[in-house]
Amino acid sequence: MGSRTRGLLLLGVLAGGAFLASCADMLERHEPVVLPTVGKAPYGELPDGSSVDLYTLTNGTGMRVKVLNYGAILAGVEVPDRAGAVCDVTLGYDSLEGWMKNPAYFGATIGRYANRIARGTFTLDGQTYKLATNNGENHLHGGLVGFHKVLWNAQPMATSTAAGVRLTYVSRDGEEGYPGNLSATVVYTLSTRNELKIEFTATTDKPTVVNLTNHAYWNLGGPGSGDVLGHLLTLFADQYTPVDRGLIPTGELKPVLDTPMDFTAPTPIGKRIAEVEGGYDHNFVLRNQPPRVGIAARLYEPRSGRLMELLTDQPGLQLYTGNFLDGSIVGKGGVAYGKHAGLCLEAQRYPDSPNRPNFPSPVLRPGETYHHTQILRFSTRPLPHSAHAR
Ligand code: GLA
Repeated sequence: MGSRTRGLLLLGVLAGGAFLASCADMLERHEPVVLPTVGKAPYGELPDGSSVDLYTLTNGTGMRVKVLNYGAILAGVEVPDRAGAVCDVTLGYDSLEGWMKNPAYFGATIGRYANRIARGTFTLDGQTYKLATNNGENHLHGGLVGFHKVLWNAQPMATSTAAGVRLTYVSRDGEEGYPGNLSATVVYTLSTRNELKIEFTATTDKPTVVNLTNHAYWNLGGPGSGDVLGHLLTLFADQYTPVDRGLIPTGELKPVLDTPMDFTAPTPIGKRIAEVEGGYDHNFVLRNQPPRVGIAARLYEPRSGRLMELLTDQPGLQLYTGNFLDGSIVGKGGVAYGKHAGLCLEAQRYPDSPNRPNFPSPVLRPGETYHHTQILRFSTRPLPHSAHAR
């Protein structure tokens, strides 16, 4: 193709883009042509005969989100790239059998306690509780049967600007060793502005600890696009919580400046990952602190142009770069997930907070409501000029 033809094509694309942008503006100012919808389809059966459904949220402005009532799992997030091509940017499975095994916690709602509690024990109001230990000597992601392995009640909902599903689960007193009956709710809402909001709430009838999160693995390049080492990550965090060999925080907060933990400016994930033993699996201390919802992370994939921003009201964010993936899990579309095939950004209380009085408290008491909001905001960036010229 001659450079003149390429130039004309580019103009066409830019003009098309400008047209689409003005159309989108018009649609926002007036009425959306396609209203958000929620679909519900049978997905499979659990061994006890109960049926699992897949809820598909469609916003009419380019995105689709899939949620299972099994595990309140975020089963898929379809997002357009800079050319408008839509694909799923999360790792996961095509069948219930896959989600039921799910050793890597793809898309999982994690509860009651995301991340690790040292030696699976903590003391609250003078009483010591013993939890299941499922990660060496430690308790990880809620224990043997976490919130991602139970059936939730689901209620779809749609308005003129958003489609959503509300899921509820009651975790009984003593489940996995935790005190109190805990009523948990997760609400997924997809707006016409391509924002996916995930809101967690919980109440209890006895003092307990809570730390719910979502464990989606992102690869903004889409299925089969390789690892995430070329994604550019910005974390709005100046400190992190160093860990021991068992990934339990030492209790210190250390500055990220001039270390491989420094993502304060957009940085390729792979730039200094070799200097971090095992890869990134660390909690960052966010600049924004509760109860305000503020920016925590920005993730950009240069080839597709997809950009994802994560806003939250949680004090910490775990960056986990899929270090334990080794190609043995075959997921959506038959793709084998190799090391670093996806990354997680887990908004959370700091790991092992129940044993760390200097960390923000994860304690929930009767009469209080635990709140956790995260917003995933999707958009695209155009090709930089230098890339057009090539
Ligand atoms: C979290 C943990 C990791 C790992 C993954 C699941 O992100 O911090 O160490 O357990 O979950 O594989």
